[in-house]
Amino acid sequence: METSVLPSAPRAHWSSRWAFVLATAGSAIGLGNIWKFPYMTGTNGGSAFVLVYLACITLIGVPLLMAETLLGRRGQGNPYDAMTTVAREAGASGFWRVIGLIGIVGALLILSFYSVVAGWILEYATRAAGGFSGITRAAAEAGFAALLADPARLVAWHTVFMALTVVVVAGGVTSGIERANRIMMPGLFALIMLLIVYGTLTADMPAALRFMFHFDPAAVTREVVFSAMGHSFFTLSLGMGAIMTYGSYLERHTSIARTCFYVALADTGIALLAGLAIFAIVFAQGLAPAAGPGLILQTLPLAFAQMPGGQIVGILFFVLVVFAAWTSSISLLEPFVSLLIERFGVRRAVAAWASGTGVWLLGVAVCLSFNAWSGVRLFELGIFDLLDALTTKILMPVSGLLIAVFVAWVMQRGHVREEIALPHSGFRLWQGTLRYVSPLAIVAIFLHVTGLAG
Ligand code: PFF
Repeated sequence: METSVLPSAPRAHWSSRWAFVLATAGSAIGLGNIWKFPYMTGTNGGSAFVLVYLACITLIGVPLLMAETLLGRRGQGNPYDAMTTVAREAGASGFWRVIGLIGIVGALLILSFYSVVAGWILEYATRAAGGFSGITRAAAEAGFAALLADPARLVAWHTVFMALTVVVVAGGVTSGIERANRIMMPGLFALIMLLIVYGTLTADMPAALRFMFHFDPAAVTREVVFSAMGHSFFTLSLGMGAIMTYGSYLERHTSIARTCFYVALADTGIALLAGLAIFAIVFAQGLAPAAGPGLILQTLPLAFAQMPGGQIVGILFFVLVVFAAWTSSISLLEPFVSLLIERFGVRRAVAAWASGTGVWLLGVAVCLSFNAWSGVRLFELGIFDLLDALTTKILMPVSGLLIAVFVAWVMQRGHVREEIALPHSGFRLWQGTLRYVSPLAIVAIFLHVTGLAG
């Protein structure tokens, strides 16, 4: 059977369990791991963030990843229709469709800034081709600032990346991207390992390890916990319809638990390795770990400049990161496109180009928020930070909470049992976590941050 990520009638299914693991890992592994995780760790006090993030992945992320996959497979449709189906089957109110809606809208909002950041990476791939030789720390920092100050360049790269995303989604069949994934993901992993070796030999790996893993309970602030929870959702692509849509193409007999475990393991592994590689360089160069969103772009050029063969490694690295971002961005556009096709009968190509254009426009505002519109602020945040905070800190956890409550409390146990074919004790453990631990943790973190409690 054709291996397709994208809906067609009759509904396509993955050719194998590995195809699902690969596509879902492709969605999960992206800028969140290589760009966002290191800079969030840097601005949130290092190990405090890392350890809370790992706890969130285990207690909230993995159980929810399984739950969202389950909803997709059971609902067999785009997030809105899938939720309609499963709510009806559970005899529950149509309210639960809101999960599909939040996801679809949230995914489009994420894509608007995700594409802009992917554009930065494209710019750096071309800069790497020119070689970074002789670059100094100050020049690396200035180089990133110059990019942010140049709206035309930002918009141009953002346009290129959105076009790449739309072309694949409009094409309908992703065997190409899936095949590319199969080559690119191991390639990315190999290059990150190379950076780790480089970091160990020439940079300050002990400092990186200390920064990321030496736990200091005093550093765990509200903001750190909130950010770590938000990031655990972001990195696993949770609550945004992407996992639900991909789950809807999963064959009945495939073990959801096992596949989700592999996805989470690969995702977390890549993030931790990328973090170690970056911080080893940061500390060796005397850079500030809290530099913010530009962190990897201010750090890696320094490493590539000194490394033998650094020019080739640099180009390859940034190109592979673009691929990682690409496989994620497709999964961000697909939920809305599948809704337009399945519910409104819009042709796939039209749906993809129209929604891509809308997202592109919002992305242009994001590009301007770094320069001409830097004064535009709401809740003290610029457009870029606002979209990021709204999606990762609010929409994703809210959607995750609703998913946990729906699957663990509203769905009929027998139906859930049919989807999660774990041995009894494993099932109980998963269900108990989803029932009590995940929702309570999300609510507690919300209350704590908004100051309503403690
Ligand atoms: N998980 C992706 C990353 O870490 O880069 C980002 C993402 C993709 C978030 C798809 C949400 C989503 F639905």
